[in-house]
Amino acid sequence: MEQQSKQPITYRFPAGFWWGSATSATQIEGAANEGGKGKNIWDHWYEQEPHRFFQGVGPEVTSDFYHRYKEDIALMKEIGHNSFRFSISWSRLIPDGVGEVNSEAVRFYNAVIDELLANGIEPFVNLYHFDMPLVMQNIGGWENREVIDAYARYASLCFQLFGDRVKTWFTHNEPIVPVEGGYLYDFHYPNVVDFRRAVQVAYHTMIAHAKAVAAFRRAAIQGGKIGIILNLTPSYPRSQHPADVKAAHIADLLFNRSFLDPAVKGEYPQDLIELLAEHRFLPVTEVGDRELIKENTIDLLGINYYQPRRVKAKEHLPNPDAPFLPERFFDYYAMPGRKMNPYRGWEIYEKGIYDILINIKENYGNIECFISENGMGVEGEERFRDESGMIHDDYRIEFIRGHLKWVHRAIEEGVNVKGYHLWTFMDNWSWTNAYKNRYGLVAVDLDNHLKRTIKKSGYWLKTVAENNGF
Ligand code: NOJ
Repeated sequence: MEQQSKQPITYRFPAGFWWGSATSATQIEGAANEGGKGKNIWDHWYEQEPHRFFQGVGPEVTSDFYHRYKEDIALMKEIGHNSFRFSISWSRLIPDGVGEVNSEAVRFYNAVIDELLANGIEPFVNLYHFDMPLVMQNIGGWENREVIDAYARYASLCFQLFGDRVKTWFTHNEPIVPVEGGYLYDFHYPNVVDFRRAVQVAYHTMIAHAKAVAAFRRAAIQGGKIGIILNLTPSYPRSQHPADVKAAHIADLLFNRSFLDPAVKGEYPQDLIELLAEHRFLPVTEVGDRELIKENTIDLLGINYYQPRRVKAKEHLPNPDAPFLPERFFDYYAMPGRKMNPYRGWEIYEKGIYDILINIKENYGNIECFISENGMGVEGEERFRDESGMIHDDYRIEFIRGHLKWVHRAIEEGVNVKGYHLWTFMDNWSWTNAYKNRYGLVAVDLDNHLKRTIKKSGYWLKTVAENNGF
């Protein structure tokens, strides 16, 4: 490692750049039935259908951050983090989503925040990461306006409880994913496949977001900023043929701009409204919604980027009997010669991160942003462990380096990028994939009492953070 730090720095990042990683409550905390936590949809779904989860592993223990946060924060410090994102579990803080506050949860999150600050790590807090309290889901989840109000109350409470120390807040992580998973493609509870309900859920999630931003403004947290974290997936058409270009445009509207535009610009794209109207899928709205969205735009945009979306025009007429899915409008295609992650089957396209950032600069007022997730999932990573226990994940170092070069170039071209967070700090439970794909800078040994060991990439990122470049 010594040697690396002596190498000349080719890519230097702006002073104060945020180096760190991101996590989420359900994926790392464990203690799902401890500390007074209420059930969320993941606890419930796992109880109902454990076979839907890789190797039958559920969310009860995960990486046990709930009990080991001190050890973990010490490791974050050791690998040079100056910032770290975690999420608050709504059902831990307010077990039924709407009633009494759980004092054990308040103690836990206070302890985590204090421990981070004591170690010189800035806490970035996200309020919602796929984890609807079960009681709220049972009355319709995001389909029910009462749940939006319960969420806004929860948000407001978090600002009051933790806003004296937490300055950087996010309302949602990847809000399109629960829409896709829960209402289109059957990989999140409640496993519905219904385009109309999906649109309503997406719309209500945005209303919930705007209400949380409004609550944040009322809380007037000194030096505070609020944002949203979006998985912006650039859609590339197969060709410049107008039909392919249109297909990619629709994918962009549905998966990216349905949240990006209202969050940053305070309004939905006209093309999206027309598309939904044409197919009679416009959501039910209420008086005042438009103003709410208009008045509550964000300060800071988190961008998650993993892989691009390669799209072409449909070659065959859709089967009218099949459920109405976004694929009515386009097909996916595999670009010949594209680079793939050999351990997970996702495309690796580093320039995608730059394309997103340039788009933010040119079309979204160059709003302050950061890479809130980027990372490489690897199946069977244990095979790269050496006798000392360290995982030699050179492929991950190459992956991060490749993306950082493009982030650096975007900064040179004037994009307002404040930091880079990797997904993720330590190997963790990834929803129905459980521990199948490992993403961490720190390995968690499931066969050895969840023992933590820093991977080679962790040491590499430490050097990058210390040098503020590489
Ligand atoms: C995005 C999500 O925020 C996170 O929960 C997930 O585990 C990673 N991507 C990896 O798929």
